[in-house]
Amino acid sequence: MRCTFCPSEAVLRLRHANLRLCPEHLVARVEKEAEKAIREFRMFSPQEKILVAVSGGKDSLGLWAILTRLGYTADGLYIDLGIGDYSRRSREFCEVFAREHGLMLHVLELRKELGAGLDEIAETLRGEPCAHCGAIKRYLMNRAAWEGGYAALATGHNLDDEAATLLGNTLRWDLEYLARQYPVLPEGPKLARKVKPLVYLSEREMVAYCLLRGIRYIYEECPHSVGARSLFLKDILNRLEDAAPSTKITFLKSFLRVHDQLPPGPEAEVHACPSCGMPTAARGPCRFCRIKERMAQRAPA
Ligand code: AMP
Ligand code: FES
Ligand code: ZN
Ligand code: ZN
Repeated sequence: MRCTFCPSEAVLRLRHANLRLCPEHLVARVEKEAEKAIREFRMFSPQEKILVAVSGGKDSLGLWAILTRLGYTADGLYIDLGIGDYSRRSREFCEVFAREHGLMLHVLELRKELGAGLDEIAETLRGEPCAHCGAIKRYLMNRAAWEGGYAALATGHNLDDEAATLLGNTLRWDLEYLARQYPVLPEGPKLARKVKPLVYLSEREMVAYCLLRGIRYIYEECPHSVGARSLFLKDILNRLEDAAPSTKITFLKSFLRVHDQLPPGPEAEVHACPSCGMPTAARGPCRFCRIKERMAQRAPA
């Protein structure tokens, strides 16, 4: 199988883009698609400093490498969730990447922030661990980007993630979530701009990119994600994609084209949390501060 662009042997076939790519052209395509999304959605300029939230997985570490290669200034943020061996190993992948590339990595630890790791939080609080985790991560990412004076916070959400989220939101016709699903969300008071430069890149491309660029990352999924709805939706989309290549990219791009026709959603009344001062839609303390308080009230083991 020959590369679409040169006589070299292709290592990856992308049916949805009608391309067969050799290592060199695959790396070039991934970086070009990321740059395209950054420009198309005006995510940030080369003069702005970015904070990349890195989980130790292929997407976020790949994104950090791409941004650096494209000439952007990007520091990393790793949140140590205290999920046993999974957190210890994913943290190490981030630290090794930062060290090898001479990049700055900030680390926040849930045990220091909340007095407990996610495993203990999941045991103490009712509800899905992933829902608490998502809220905690969003809070810490925003606070770190805001306090650090970064122009934007970048996450490694890829095409597969975005298509699965879109399918979930569409199945519920959740107009509020649909209105907020966009590759760039603007900044506000104490709110950092949020950007997703990998929206046009599939999981397979990110795996191949990391492999070719020698980026080592954690393969395992978080142990709490077993049976998660997002994995189920991804599986369904993969089956659709097998039968009709380009289902995912068409689904996402068509949605992004009509996104500005969606009703803007109710303007959430935002208050300053009386405890930490960060913005929240809650009347009293924000969700993060409530979790913190709840963990402090635990009976000592
Ligand atoms: P997830 O919510 O696990 O699908 O991750 C989505 C994105 O959030 C990743 O691509 C990262 O950019 C970011 N992220 C996830 N977990 C962490 C973490 N522990 N520390 C920092 N960023 C994270
Ligand atoms: Fe948050 Fe798994 S990474 S629950
Ligand atoms: Zn080629
Ligand atoms: Zn608070």
